[in-house]
Amino acid sequence: MKNQSSNIFWLLLLILHLSASSSSSAQHHEQPQPRQVYIVYFGEHSGEKTTHEIEDDHHSYLFSVKGSKEEAKASLIYSYKNVVNGFSALLTQDEASKLSEMKGVVSVFRSHPKKHRLHTTRSWDFISLLEGGNGEANHPYPYEELLHKASYGKDVIVGMIDSGIWPESQSFSDEGMEPIPKSWKGKCQTGVAFNKSHCNRKLIGARYYIKSYEATFGRLNNAEDYRSPRDKDGHGTHTTSIVGGRRVMNASAIGGFAYGTASGGAPLVRLAIYKACWPIPGQPKSDGNTCQEDDMLAAIDDAIADGVQVLSISIGTNQSNPYTQDGIAIGALHAAKRNIVVACSAGNSGPTPSTVTNVAPWIITVAAIINFDTWLYWQPDITAPGLNILAAWSEAISPTQLDVDHRVVNYNLQSGTSMACPHVAAVSALLKAIHPNWSSAAIRSALMTTATLNNNMGTPITDTAGNLATPFHYGSGHFQPANAADPGLVYDATYTDYLLFLCSTGYHLDPSFKCPKHPPSPSNLNYPSLAIAKLKRTITVKRTVTNVGASKSVYSLTFKPPIGFSVEISPTILSFSEVGEKRNFFITVKEESRQKTKPKAGQYAFGWYMWSDGIHIVRSPIAVSSA
Ligand SMILES: *[C@@H]1O[C@H](CO)[C@@H](O)[C@H](O)[C@H]1NC(C)=O
Ligand SMILES: *[C@@H]1O[C@H](CO)[C@@H](O)[C@H](O)[C@H]1NC(C)=O
Ligand SMILES: *[C@@H]1O[C@H](CO)[C@@H](O)[C@H](O)[C@H]1NC(C)=O
Ligand SMILES: *[C@@H]1O[C@H](CO)[C@@H](O)[C@H](O)[C@H]1NC(C)=O
Repeated sequence: MKNQSSNIFWLLLLILHLSASSSSSAQHHEQPQPRQVYIVYFGEHSGEKTTHEIEDDHHSYLFSVKGSKEEAKASLIYSYKNVVNGFSALLTQDEASKLSEMKGVVSVFRSHPKKHRLHTTRSWDFISLLEGGNGEANHPYPYEELLHKASYGKDVIVGMIDSGIWPESQSFSDEGMEPIPKSWKGKCQTGVAFNKSHCNRKLIGARYYIKSYEATFGRLNNAEDYRSPRDKDGHGTHTTSIVGGRRVMNASAIGGFAYGTASGGAPLVRLAIYKACWPIPGQPKSDGNTCQEDDMLAAIDDAIADGVQVLSISIGTNQSNPYTQDGIAIGALHAAKRNIVVACSAGNSGPTPSTVTNVAPWIITVAAIINFDTWLYWQPDITAPGLNILAAWSEAISPTQLDVDHRVVNYNLQSGTSMACPHVAAVSALLKAIHPNWSSAAIRSALMTTATLNNNMGTPITDTAGNLATPFHYGSGHFQPANAADPGLVYDATYTDYLLFLCSTGYHLDPSFKCPKHPPSPSNLNYPSLAIAKLKRTITVKRTVTNVGASKSVYSLTFKPPIGFSVEISPTILSFSEVGEKRNFFITVKEESRQKTKPKAGQYAFGWYMWSDGIHIVRSPIAVSSA
C-alpha cells in the first residue's frame, strides 16, 4: 500500500516536472541544476573538536548554500571525522562553486566514480626464480628467507579497499594465529550474510561504504551484491588473498590449472577489509565495479584511525585529476603523514607522458607484468606479477563473472595491475615487519632501487610487441623483495617534503602549512627516480641518500645518460661511517646542443644512475624530454 501511494506520488511529481520543464523552456526560465556528489575538503582535523562539533561545522557550510537546515542535513552524505576534515554532499554546480570560495575550504571537487576492472602461489615462486634461489638447502628461496626474517608479517595490519571478502575461504583461516595486535582499533561491521563471527584473528576488521553509491544509483539491489562486507564480485577476495592469504595446499583453478599451494605474499599479516566497490546497475559483472570516490575516502579515513600500516588499493581510473581534486591522493597523503604505506595499481589506460607528475609521489604506483593491453604511458614506480595469478575467489560468482557460467570455485586465475598492487602491498608489510622504523618513502625507495630490468628468463622486459620496454612501462623495474629488505641506501622523504613539493607545483593541501616564498623545485623531491619533462637546456637536482646498510661503507657511482642529453653527477664517491648517516649529491642534466644529437621536442629518452658498495646496487631510472 505504502509503495503504491509513493509510486503515485512520484508519477505526479514526474508529470509536474515534465510540464514545468516544457513550460519553463518556452518561457526561458532557468532549469534546476542537477545535483551531483561533491567532496568538500578542509585539510586535517586539529583534534580539538568533538565529532558533534565537526558535524555541526560541516552542516553550517552546507546550510550557507542550501538555505535550510533540513536541506543541508538531507544533502550530506559523509562527514569525515577521524583524520580527514571534509564532507561529501549532493550539490549543484553553483553550490559547489560557492562553497569553493568560502573561508577554510581547500578544494571542492566532483566525487568521480572509479572503476576496478579485472584485467598464487605461482607468482611468489616466480619472484624466487628471479632472485636466484632454487629451493635447495644451499640455495634456499630468497623469498622464504625474507618471510622468515619478517615472521611472515604476523604483527602488521594491512587494509584492503576493494569489493569485500569471502570470509569462509580457507585462505582466511586464523588457525594457530596469535591474538589480534593491541594497536588495532577497527570494527567488524555486520550486514547481509555477515556477522561478527566472520571476523577472526586473520580477518581482524570488515566494514562497508555504500552511502555515495546509493545516493548515486539508488538502493543496492539485493540480488546484485550483499549490503555488507561480503564480496559478490570476487575481486576483493582475490586481491586480499594475494596480500595475506594463508598457505592452502592443493588449491587450483577450475580444470585443475595452476595446481599447487596457494599463498599470500605475507601469510600471517592481519587483514582489514574496507568494501567500497559495488556493481554498476544494468551492466554485466564482467565489466567491473564502481567505487565512488567519497565512499573510498571514508574508507581511507577509517583505515587510518583503525591502525592499518599498509593500504592496498587496486582501483584504477581513466582520469588524471590534480592532487587537490583526487580523493585517493588526498587520503593517501594523510596516510603518508603517519608512515602508512599506500600501494595503488596504475590504471590500464593511463594518461600521456606529459601528465606523469600527476601520479602522487606519496603513493607506490604499481604496474603489472602481463601479456595483453601495463601500452601504458603512465609512469609507475614499480612492476610486479600480474599474469594468471591464482588466488581465493568469492563463491557467490562464477570464475568468469558471466551470467551463463554457474560454476563455483574457491580459487581463480586473474590477470592485471589489480593483481600486481597487492604483491607490492604484501612485500611492503614484510619490510615493515623487518624495519618498523622505516618511513613509507624508505620502503618505496628500497623496492624501487633494488628492482631488476630483466624478466624471469633473464632477458630484458619487453612490451607486448616485443620491443624493449621503458621506465614508462615498468618504472624502476620488476621488484625483487628479498633484495628490498637490504637496499644499502634509501632515498627518504618526509611529510614536509611532500608539502614543499606541492607548494612548488602550485597545489596546497595542508592549510596549516605555510609555503615558503621560494619553495625548492619539484625535481628536488627526494625521489628514487628522476623524471624531467620539457627540459630547457639544463637543470641541476639534489638527492639525499641515507645509509641503512653497513655502518662503514663506501659507494661509488656509475650512470648512463639518456640519448641526446649529458649527465654530470657529483660527488661520485659517498663514504659513510654510521647507519642513518645522510649524504647529498647533485645531478646536472644538459641538452646536447649539436644539431645532430639534439633530442626531438617532447620525446622522452631514458638513462639511469647507480650507487654500489660492491654488495648493494642502488639504481634509479632517468626519464627526460626536451622542451
Ligand atoms: C553468523 O553466521 C553464521 C552463518 O554464516 C552462523 O552459523 C552463526 O550462528 C552466526 N553467528 C551469530 C553470532 O549470529
Ligand atoms: C594434497 O594432495 C596430495 C596428493 O593428492 C595429498 O597426498 C595430500 O594429503 C593433500 N593435502 C591436503 C592438505 O589436502
Ligand atoms: C572514463 O570512464 C568513464 C566511465 O567509464 C567515461 O564516462 C569517461 O568518458 C572516461 N574518460 C576518459 C577520459 O576516457
Ligand atoms: C623506532 O621507533 C620506536 C617508536 O617510535 C622507538 O621507540 C625506537 O627507539 C625507534 N628505534 C630506532 C632504532 O630508531
